[in-house]
Amino acid sequence: MNRPLKVIVVGSGVAGMAFAHRLSSLMGADEVDIRLLSKAAPESSNSHAAQGGVAVVVHPSDSWEGHRDDTLEVGGGRCLPEVVERVVQEGPGCIQELLLKGARFDTNDEGGLATAREGGHSAARVVHRGDRTGAELVRVLRAQIRCDPKISVTETLMALDLLVSDTSEGRRCRGVRTMDILTGVIMEQYADVTVLATGGAGQVYRHTTNPVGATGSGVAMAIRGNVPLRDMAFVQFHPTALFAPEQEGTFLISEAVRGAGAMLLRPDRSRLMEGLHPMADLAPRNVVARAIHAVMREESAAHVLLDATQIGEARFAREFPMILNHCWSIGIDPVRQPIPVMPAAHYLCGGIRTDAQGRTELDGLYALGECASSGLHGADRLASNSLLEALVIPRHAAASVLISEWQQPIQKDLGKGQYSFTAPSPLTLSSLADLRELMMRDVGIVRGDEGLRSARKGLLEFKERAEVAWSGGERSQELFELRDLALVAIAICEQAIAEPGNAGTHWNQDAPPRSVMETALA
Ligand code: SIN
Repeated sequence: MNRPLKVIVVGSGVAGMAFAHRLSSLMGADEVDIRLLSKAAPESSNSHAAQGGVAVVVHPSDSWEGHRDDTLEVGGGRCLPEVVERVVQEGPGCIQELLLKGARFDTNDEGGLATAREGGHSAARVVHRGDRTGAELVRVLRAQIRCDPKISVTETLMALDLLVSDTSEGRRCRGVRTMDILTGVIMEQYADVTVLATGGAGQVYRHTTNPVGATGSGVAMAIRGNVPLRDMAFVQFHPTALFAPEQEGTFLISEAVRGAGAMLLRPDRSRLMEGLHPMADLAPRNVVARAIHAVMREESAAHVLLDATQIGEARFAREFPMILNHCWSIGIDPVRQPIPVMPAAHYLCGGIRTDAQGRTELDGLYALGECASSGLHGADRLASNSLLEALVIPRHAAASVLISEWQQPIQKDLGKGQYSFTAPSPLTLSSLADLRELMMRDVGIVRGDEGLRSARKGLLEFKERAEVAWSGGERSQELFELRDLALVAIAICEQAIAEPGNAGTHWNQDAPPRSVMETALA
């Protein structure tokens, strides 16, 4: 080896950091140079915001087969069983490793790991740290990365496009074009291996639990680079986002609150989920979100209620301190009164198609975490399986890089100019808002043939508007987002149109119901 293998990781959530850390631990000091690029600090990532935890079998009364079966069931027949088995079997080892690195999870009275119950799980198997589990994982991984001389971190770089070479040997990813969001400087950054770990795309919807940076940039780059996607129709809506229209952003009320006994109520305070599914309030998320959506529509209500009063103040404060403080800060006391909640876009179950080692169909390009579709989630993701996936698949991706990736002919990084930022035009701003509204209305929890067709037309217009604004010289952050969000939204919509029937989170009211349960929920 005459120079270190150059690896670029785009995104600094759990998947990106877990990969960088693992690869570094497998390679010697002069063998690898890993650059972790992101447009913000890990504290702004979806991973950091994750409340619930990591679904993993840690008690003898539970079994990996049970975890597998729950994942397959919630995934609506669309998961890849071999990927599911691998991920659930390797979960306990990942937790052990994190504990050794200093992770602190909640413990039970016997001193073992405490496990919470969430939707779709037949057992309590969610390992957590209060209601800030993602933040704990980020803390531990960040500490590892900070003191690793093989990994450099830049938190002001937005990746714009993949660099793809097309030669007689085939197409290959050669790195990424980035923009420094402080200076506007554009760079072509070359790498032997590029890893997309850019997170979700919740910002494509008006109501989302995702942070502002979840604009689907990795998926959009893959689309522009002709890298195949999978299962884009499947967008998970979390049933219980806090309804607080006067607040900026949408705050999540973790499903673990229902796991601790909270119940959903209709506006007249009768039980909402009773009789609709054998697991009632802990049914798979797509079932609960659709039931809430139906009640809100029937009753023209802006929200339903989550009654958590039976949990009691001491337990609520111990297990959900962040939720308690947030609710108190806006004048809601969840210990004494029901919490107003509504569904909000939460997780992109599909994404860039990969194998179980995170390899995409473009040589030199890997995708990990929420921007990827490894086949684990299928048509709906089992609660708290995403942090698990973000820990397991990167291990295999790192091993794959070690074994099968080699140095490519050297190409020096190139400065390619500089954008002078402009203010967003009113049309760009209104297009962003309209796109999010349109997706919520026509490509949301319940879809229909006509809505999907007209949404597609509208989305193509937003894409066109972004291109016109670009040609006209606009260079705003909002325009970059519109460009990416329009592409991702079109992919979701087109895949929804192409879906032959209903599965998991994709629900087309014009598709014939397949079962008595579906008819009851229609
Ligand atoms: C939650 O805490 O309800 C979210 C966890 C997840 O999305 O898996």
